Amino acid sequence: MADTPQEIHSVLTEARVFPPPEAFARRAHIRGMQDYQRLWDEAAKAPEKYWGDRAREELYWKEPFQTVLDWKPPHARWFVEGRTNLAYNCLDRHLPALKDKPAILFEGEPGDRRRITYGELSAEVNRMANGLKSLGVRKGDRVGIYLPMVPEAAVAMLACARIGAVHSVVFGGFSAEALQERMNDAGARVLLTADGGWRKGAVVPLLKNVTAALANTPSLEKVVVLKRTADVAIPSGSKWVAWDALVQGQSDVCEPEWVESEHPLFILYTSGSTGKPKGVLHTTAGYALGASLTTRWVFDLREDDVYWCTADVGWVTGHSYVVYGPLMNGVSTVMYEGAPTHPGPDRFWELIARYKATILYTAPTAIRAFMRLGEEHPRKHDLSSLRLLGSVGEPINPEAWMWYRDVIGGGRCPVVDTWWQTETGSIMISPLPGATPTKPGSATFPLPGIHAEILDRAGKPVPRGQGGLLFITKPWPSMLRSVYGDPERYVRTYFSELPGRYFTGDGARTDQDGYFWLMGRVDDVVNVAGHRLGTAEVESALVAHAKVSESAVVGRPDDLKGTALVAFVTLKAGIRPSPELKKELAAHVSKEIGAIARPDEIRFAEGLPKTRSGKIMRRLLRDVAAGKQATGDTTTLEDLNVLAALSQNDE
Ligand code: WTA
Repeated sequence: MADTPQEIHSVLTEARVFPPPEAFARRAHIRGMQDYQRLWDEAAKAPEKYWGDRAREELYWKEPFQTVLDWKPPHARWFVEGRTNLAYNCLDRHLPALKDKPAILFEGEPGDRRRITYGELSAEVNRMANGLKSLGVRKGDRVGIYLPMVPEAAVAMLACARIGAVHSVVFGGFSAEALQERMNDAGARVLLTADGGWRKGAVVPLLKNVTAALANTPSLEKVVVLKRTADVAIPSGSKWVAWDALVQGQSDVCEPEWVESEHPLFILYTSGSTGKPKGVLHTTAGYALGASLTTRWVFDLREDDVYWCTADVGWVTGHSYVVYGPLMNGVSTVMYEGAPTHPGPDRFWELIARYKATILYTAPTAIRAFMRLGEEHPRKHDLSSLRLLGSVGEPINPEAWMWYRDVIGGGRCPVVDTWWQTETGSIMISPLPGATPTKPGSATFPLPGIHAEILDRAGKPVPRGQGGLLFITKPWPSMLRSVYGDPERYVRTYFSELPGRYFTGDGARTDQDGYFWLMGRVDDVVNVAGHRLGTAEVESALVAHAKVSESAVVGRPDDLKGTALVAFVTLKAGIRPSPELKKELAAHVSKEIGAIARPDEIRFAEGLPKTRSGKIMRRLLRDVAAGKQATGDTTTLEDLNVLAALSQNDE
């Protein structure tokens, strides 16, 4: 449940404004705020005409649509009668013109490199699409993807899209348990994976995790394994298929499945306020339109751009801005497998210099880590190819924003701070770099056609300068369509705070100039180092441990990660707290969910502060975790002594 807006405080005051550099603005797709305003007004006045026109311009349609939008709140269907195919839009549409242009510039962590042209990528995708068909995968079937950041991840996604299969990518950093839960929820028939991937010089044991998960994934009929690290041999048995063997001998022609606009494209699991991740469901045409249009406008793409988004394909940013958005636009996209600081602190900057990247899109947590490592590392490399910088995943503090602009961008590159979510499918609030004067730390304005409003609980707009809840009040093409397998949860989570209006779960305010400032989550979701985690998931992992009786997990502000996880744990009777037990519990969470969910701090407590109805008062725990005096109303607290004891507990 969201905090009330009065509790959302803002301490930021930021007066610096950076107009788009003139030379940049002159060549931009959208030049100046007048252009932006005109588009915004057009979209607001006649949304169906606006989106219909964009959809016709942006996508290849096998069959045209007549109905732009069928909106029965909270259910939207876009471009209803149309038929298209996303792989066709990413590949065939560019052929033969871009046959020899690099689609993917890949660098593995160990330093292996591959330059894959549009022609080659298309052939590989078609071979895999035929391979999937040979395994019996049909339109609408779910296919799991659990791969490192290698080109085959893009091939896998595109091959699914080509035959109308629904992909569900699971981040390679997730554990066997997390993988199992997602495969079962999606009812995946086939899983595409690898023996391992490289991260910080070590092998991520994907195949080991898959093998463990398979003990309890009845829907999985086949597992296709790519050789990446040659760390382990593919097990024998009829379930297992070698990637190479599957694609070898397949035809590089595969007629695309012309799917209806609303055909499901992918399911991506994301954390919510309960212990069970939500399968966010996106469908084909609306998502494609959002990804394509925002990639071109927000990154102001040009044909010769070398574009690098550092996100993993396991997150939505990897879906929209590593794979689909750039490929639909026919640019070259850089893909890097490994850690940003491996083998040295300048790996990113070395990559930018080598590939002459023109656009860099990364996360504030990475920027803060680079700041800490020092300017000397980027200074060693020629970063003059860069012309635009982007940020995503959490609010970027003005200090990091300025460092990014000055040290990485040499003061000449506009910075676009892009706000969006797994659920929104594509960027919603962001500067347009040739138009919008930016302020460090502000995502500036909603894109044309996006109705973002800051409201209070009663649905009343809050005055400028005051914090409130961020809603999107009108449907947009790339919005999620449902929570897979749980349509009620879709309504409850996103459309029950104010019926008919999409609740983002974020707090925000606008300043006197109408700029949007995002203020973080107001529900029990936290952004840890750019990864979105539900505190309830971590709690349920903890209470699954035999020695734990109860647990509450909250976020605490952290200079590097944005938010760090603090777990308050009460132990079962007779269990003694100890530093070893803390380690054991932290390792247990890693095993249950993945290392990204490992608590930064575990505090043992005799009891947790609760209301008289037994609800844990997280607001108080957040204060305790941050080392603050617990503020606000404690009148419903059952036992004030519990709170006093927690504050003293600094073991
Ligand atoms: C946060 C990632 C402030 C926000 C694309 C949102 C941001 C959540 C920004 C979604 C930004 C993302 N400024 N906060 N520019 N971008 N967020 O689903 O809290 O992994 O609700 O999607 O990240 O995270 P998700």
